[in-house]
Amino acid sequence: MRTLDDLDVDGKRVLVRVDFNVPLDEEQHITDDARIRAALPTLRELREKNARLLLAAHLGRPKDREPEFSLRPVAERLSDLLGTDVVLAESLDDVPDGDVVMLENVRYEKGETKNDPELAKRYAALADVYVNDAFGAAHRAHASTEAVARLLPSAGGRLLEREVSTLRGILEDPARPLVAVVGGAKVTDKIGVLDAFLSRADRILVGGAMCFPFFKVQGHEVGDSLCEEEGLAPARKLLSAGGEKLRLPDDLVAGRAFSADTEVRELDGVDVPEGWMGLDIGARTARGYAEVIRDAGTVFWNGPMGAFELEPFAAGTRVVAEAMADADAVTVVGGGDSAAAMAEFGLADRVTHLSTGGGASLELIEGKALPGVEALS
Ligand code: 3PG
Ligand code: MG
Repeated sequence: MRTLDDLDVDGKRVLVRVDFNVPLDEEQHITDDARIRAALPTLRELREKNARLLLAAHLGRPKDREPEFSLRPVAERLSDLLGTDVVLAESLDDVPDGDVVMLENVRYEKGETKNDPELAKRYAALADVYVNDAFGAAHRAHASTEAVARLLPSAGGRLLEREVSTLRGILEDPARPLVAVVGGAKVTDKIGVLDAFLSRADRILVGGAMCFPFFKVQGHEVGDSLCEEEGLAPARKLLSAGGEKLRLPDDLVAGRAFSADTEVRELDGVDVPEGWMGLDIGARTARGYAEVIRDAGTVFWNGPMGAFELEPFAAGTRVVAEAMADADAVTVVGGGDSAAAMAEFGLADRVTHLSTGGGASLELIEGKALPGVEALS
């Protein structure tokens, strides 16, 4: 992949694709600006190299030009972080020439998600060179992430570069033992990752509701737990392929309902009684997982161990997060929910690498080619 070292940006207008798809509350206030801060090294480097910036980003999945998907709050936050004015260009037909200009949400444009070559030409006409730093959107072949990269001299930014090299490093040359911690609600979302780690990792620790298809296949009662029907066949396969490598919880925390003030019960074992749902890994399991993490050479974590957004069911995820923070290992957290958990527990800066990409980091680990990265090679 070409990097900023391969691109002449002096005096040029640089179209920079960033992933500023940040969470907003009802009043359009940014609740987590990690993705904006993660792009700052690239933006600062380009400015130091005497480039003018034209930023392109998406926010959410608008169907039309709905105002709640405007990038205005993002432009304002970036303005504060960069200490310079960020001008928001409402229309591609009228883009002002400033030091830092931001296009409105690229998904307001009809052809964006279709990777429309005509739209890509319009983007390209606005700049001299193209830099993609939007790792979180690199698994999308969209006009601003893929087609445009082929129309201008182009390179990956520093964030994209670091994300790709760190995540590929896990696959190619990890310090051992390599431990994968995989959680979340659905096993069908994680089959690719589990397959990738079955051939590479020394241990795979499984948590979250994605455990229940495994338990059901093993003949356990799952009660009212979330148990994805389509997950049963893959779980059966993974169980027979996984052997000793694949570790499932051996105790659980259950609740009557998915609610913070529900009745809570610790289960010694993994049979969930009728009328209860398993909502977290148990304390013994969490301790065991933490031990494996502390002894690891490399740990990759994707997906929470339980319903950590509800305090009675947050402990398993918190113990894993703390073990990640304390480990001497190379610790890498996939984007999305696990990155949000690290941030919520105040541990985001205590790991080697916190990915800004959810889907993108998973696809990279699965060994899939990322269109946004391929277009830069
Ligand atoms: C994300 O938040 O996952 C990325 O920004 C990509 O967004 P998308 O899933 O809407 O393409
Ligand atoms: Mg996504």
